[in-house]
Amino acid sequence: MIGKVLTAAAVASAPAWLPRRVVGLRMKIFALVNGQDAVTIPGERVGVEDFRRVYADPAANGRSRGAALSDLFWYWLAPGPEVHQEHLEPGPRYDEVAKCTRQILVRSKKDSEELTRRVAAHVLDGVRPGLVRLRDAMMPIWAELYYELVFGEPCPPEARDLVVAHADDVVSALKCVRPRNMRRRARLTKYLRRRLADVPHPLPRSLTPEEQVYYLQGTFFNTAVVQMSEAMAHLLMIVAKRPDVQRRLVEQPGDDAYLDQVIDDGLRAYPLFGIAHRIATADIELAHVTIPAGTVLCFSYPDFAARSAEDAGFIPFGVTQNRACPARGLAPLTMRVVTREVLRRFSLASTAGHTRSIPNRGPALLTPRGARRRRVPLVWLAVRDRWEDVWRSFAQLVFGTYMVLDARHQALCSRYFAGGNR
Ligand code: HEM
Repeated sequence: MIGKVLTAAAVASAPAWLPRRVVGLRMKIFALVNGQDAVTIPGERVGVEDFRRVYADPAANGRSRGAALSDLFWYWLAPGPEVHQEHLEPGPRYDEVAKCTRQILVRSKKDSEELTRRVAAHVLDGVRPGLVRLRDAMMPIWAELYYELVFGEPCPPEARDLVVAHADDVVSALKCVRPRNMRRRARLTKYLRRRLADVPHPLPRSLTPEEQVYYLQGTFFNTAVVQMSEAMAHLLMIVAKRPDVQRRLVEQPGDDAYLDQVIDDGLRAYPLFGIAHRIATADIELAHVTIPAGTVLCFSYPDFAARSAEDAGFIPFGVTQNRACPARGLAPLTMRVVTREVLRRFSLASTAGHTRSIPNRGPALLTPRGARRRRVPLVWLAVRDRWEDVWRSFAQLVFGTYMVLDARHQALCSRYFAGGNR
């Protein structure tokens, strides 16, 4: 009898304790499988005070070669991970690719705002009020926007569906809620291959046409769409859970300074990057320790933000001296426009959990602005989210372990360099 009562109590309280335990276990498995002589910064060997110094060091410039961790990131960002801008080793090929990305992103502020407003209106006009997942609701906006930046024409529905399916697959695999689905990703590759000649920008000449396809897919239809959808899901979750913030944003639609502050606070509280890694290509001398060449440097964004004084720890787009984000100008500007478009149409509320990795994709209730909000869906949302957490944490444990092992087995990065490539 007591046994049954205890079991029932353990099951009933599972949402409160199980997900955390399983996440802890998953981290341990990852560390074990990746087991390598990596230095996490800030950490025991290199403190928070040296974080920026080491990150900005010219020797902290190895990008993929020589880190077991790279096999995992190449696996997640496939196909074509060898030409993803993030993965390229420094050199002329990287410089050419980075220049091309800058050229595709550059537009006047007015143009970027108008384009964003148009695609946001187009997508949001098709969003029905009710319970949504904010990341899913946002993704088509970014698919259409980045398609138009790349192809210089409005995004056809066929392309939008392919981009969304691809980006959703990448981000779901990254969060270990699903194993990756390479067939889904290959459908976008096939489309891009067919359309490559229609891209109006000069593409990197040091890449073959096939590599150019992978470069576009990786940078614009994976990283851009994934990062923007995640950033907006966080931002709108904050708005949904903070009626005071939402009220002020709605009552003062011209106060961009306040909206910028909310965007910054969101990026500060929920940094999109967990860890960015580099490989030291020469010794890095610090006052109390020398980091030897070959060391894998893992820069932990959440730890850095948590341990530094507020502003000092705020580097949402990386450090300028070491391959910072090329969209650091465009991203906040477009987030601002999309937020205004959402708030003009809907009021938002959420009773779901909000964590940095946001594996629940930001569940929220959208009510047409001015209409009365119903309470029942919010009660249902709270219960559903807690229980989803339980099965999701198990799924993450299983899929995460499988993908870590599969990535080790495929060793995409190690094999690429072992084959004499650069
Ligand atoms: C709010 C949205 C975004 C955030 C917070 C963000 C954040 C970052 C951070 C922290 C880095 C540096 C990582 C490192 O040091 O290894 C980075 C790099 C990068 N980001 Fe973003 N990003 C965002 C949106 C975008 C978008 C829209 C694009 C579209 C092109 C993009 C493309 C890239 C690329 C290509 C890199 C690698 C840069 C290089 O190695 O040269 N990001 N991003």
